[in-house]
Amino acid sequence: MSIEDQVKASFKKEFGGSGSTYASPGRINLIGEHVDYNGGFVLPGAIDKRLVAEVKPNGTDRVRLYSADYAETVTFGLSEADLPQPTWARYVFGVAREIIKRGGSVRGFDAAFAGNVPLGSGLSSSAALESVFAFALNELFECGLAKKDLAIVGQLTEHNYVGVKCGIMDQFASVFGKKNQLILLNCSTLEYEYIPCTLPGYRLVLVNSQVKHTLVDDPYNRRQESCERVVQAIAKRHPQVALLADANPDMLREVKGVVSAEDYRRATFVIGEVERVGNTCAALRRGDLTEVGHNMYATHEGLSRLYEVSCKELDFLNACALQHGAAGSRIMGGGFGGCTINLVADAAYDGFVGNTLCDYEAAFGISAGVYEVKIEDGAKRI
Ligand code: GLA
Repeated sequence: MSIEDQVKASFKKEFGGSGSTYASPGRINLIGEHVDYNGGFVLPGAIDKRLVAEVKPNGTDRVRLYSADYAETVTFGLSEADLPQPTWARYVFGVAREIIKRGGSVRGFDAAFAGNVPLGSGLSSSAALESVFAFALNELFECGLAKKDLAIVGQLTEHNYVGVKCGIMDQFASVFGKKNQLILLNCSTLEYEYIPCTLPGYRLVLVNSQVKHTLVDDPYNRRQESCERVVQAIAKRHPQVALLADANPDMLREVKGVVSAEDYRRATFVIGEVERVGNTCAALRRGDLTEVGHNMYATHEGLSRLYEVSCKELDFLNACALQHGAAGSRIMGGGFGGCTINLVADAAYDGFVGNTLCDYEAAFGISAGVYEVKIEDGAKRI
């Protein structure tokens, strides 16, 4: 049964009748990791794994929410004190609250949802959940929010109701995704442009380590605090620097003795990553996929050694990629588990997949997941 049919059947069973159906995708990011909250450019795209929700206003001031994946129903009100217990329901509650804070008149509704974005795999299942409800509630209650606001509603849901101080990349990609296009997004201004994701002779392949990550209560927020401390040190000398992406390597060197060695390593990664995004875009535009791949490997090295958001399984998958002929490979998303994203020439594909799966299983006793990426549209009514 398709997810859409599953959601329709669930809605009918739980609440009777039918509502309006919406879908919203997970995302990949070609390059530009941990750069969004530092105000740099990122290069994400929405993918063909998505979350589907059927939603119907119910004429009350209460929400009845059914998760088909958890086979659980939660009911809650819409004032600040009504925060539901399960984390999955907090995402929906947070979206409704953030829309209400912006003047939208969200009232009670019934909703059922299900998805096939693997959870905790760095593919932003949570952004898919936020953006599908932001899109649906905005439309059904005629709140009049622009698409950028919907992405911000999702981001602030993470900040205020989940406790992850994430950047805007995931929610932006989930809302603004476009088939076969990557989004070059300036995270300071939210200006963006679409860049065709044409990779002649190559494929983008995700390898899921099956190591689950969670960004709640974890080192993600601490990475951000490191970046903020370095910005404060640089801004004393260069007041124009408000975010790390505004700084250059010389400015960073000036504060080497002032900030901790750990904070210095974190900032070294970010400033290098900002430069790699520029290199990668230029390489993409001239069709130099070898150079794109080199940048991806360099990003992995930085994420592993300097930003320290890798783990032994992801480092192993990266080494496999190099050994088995991937042109590029790196950790994708927040880190600490999840997927690597790999750029693989068509001719190398079978060998890469077969050997990587085999080596990974032999080393860790885990069978990795492999998904070839298709770039798809963002949040929409279906
Ligand atoms: C997570 C966050 C994003 C971004 C990435 C790292 O996916 O939600 O905002 O910071 O990590 O690039």
